[in-house]
Amino acid sequence: MKNLLKLMDLSEKEIVEILNTADQLKFEKKNGIPHRLLEGKVLGLIFAKSSTRTRVSFEVGMFDLGGTSLFLSSRDLQIGRGEIVQDTARVLSRYLDGIMIRTFDQREVEALAEFGTIPIINGLTDYCHPCQVLADLMTIREYKGNIKGRKLCYIGDGNNMTNSLIVGGIKLGMEVSVACPAGYEPDADIMKWAYESGRFSCSPDVLEMAKNSDVLYTDVWASMGQEGEAEERKKVFKSYQINDKVLSVSKPDAMVLHCLPAHREEEITAKVFEEHSREIFDEAENRLHAQKAVLVKCLL
Ligand code: CP
Ligand code: NVA
Repeated sequence: MKNLLKLMDLSEKEIVEILNTADQLKFEKKNGIPHRLLEGKVLGLIFAKSSTRTRVSFEVGMFDLGGTSLFLSSRDLQIGRGEIVQDTARVLSRYLDGIMIRTFDQREVEALAEFGTIPIINGLTDYCHPCQVLADLMTIREYKGNIKGRKLCYIGDGNNMTNSLIVGGIKLGMEVSVACPAGYEPDADIMKWAYESGRFSCSPDVLEMAKNSDVLYTDVWASMGQEGEAEERKKVFKSYQINDKVLSVSKPDAMVLHCLPAHREEEITAKVFEEHSREIFDEAENRLHAQKAVLVKCLL
């Protein structure tokens, strides 16, 4: 695997291999077994948006793997002053062994991969968040033992998270339902692809979509870059919340996941968040193990 640009590019087998490697790296980390597989390698981390989990998991991940990382805010890079991504890609390819990039436009990530000669990892765009979903699938497998046939219901905005959850979930044999207001659906091409599996549904009806779910998932109503729409979105998404009522129609042992950061009493109640904090923070921890698995697959 050279790059991780989006989950659609990966086969089911490749995704499962990443999850297996992540499990192995987690076991080794917990047991103090060193795994300096990327000794001497340098990863550049380009951020055009804020981050807590992605930045820290990739930095610590590179350290654990025996390599090092460079945090590159796009505000400080010449890219922030208009140097084109094609040139940035060709220059950084001469210094680094890989790049993780978080930005707005998916085309920027694709251009880095096209013009660069080193592995490119997508750390979130407006279109998708593949790294997060690998950690999510790892967490579902950890809690449920198996993924195939499980039902995941996403409630909220049809955003980058939704797009990647649909692709990852469907590829691994899950049933995926999305409850979102009309006009806020996930990417049309991804939905078309998902419908073809016969295991996808999407509707504004939250309780209908959540029925019999094994996994409930939500994310913020206004993503990074949509701050100006936040007040309007609070009205539109008011009833798109994970709360006790939603849990009452899900399976009794349903787990609740959230990529974080969370806004309590918006997309999730504080009560549900705290009652399910164990799996939510295991999910956050798994970012580290899953990101290390991606680094090993791409950079080794
Ligand atoms: N979930 C996630 O990607 O978190 P950060 O924005 O903190 O990286
Ligand atoms: N949809 C959110 C995810 C944050 C991890 C955003 O893009 O801001």
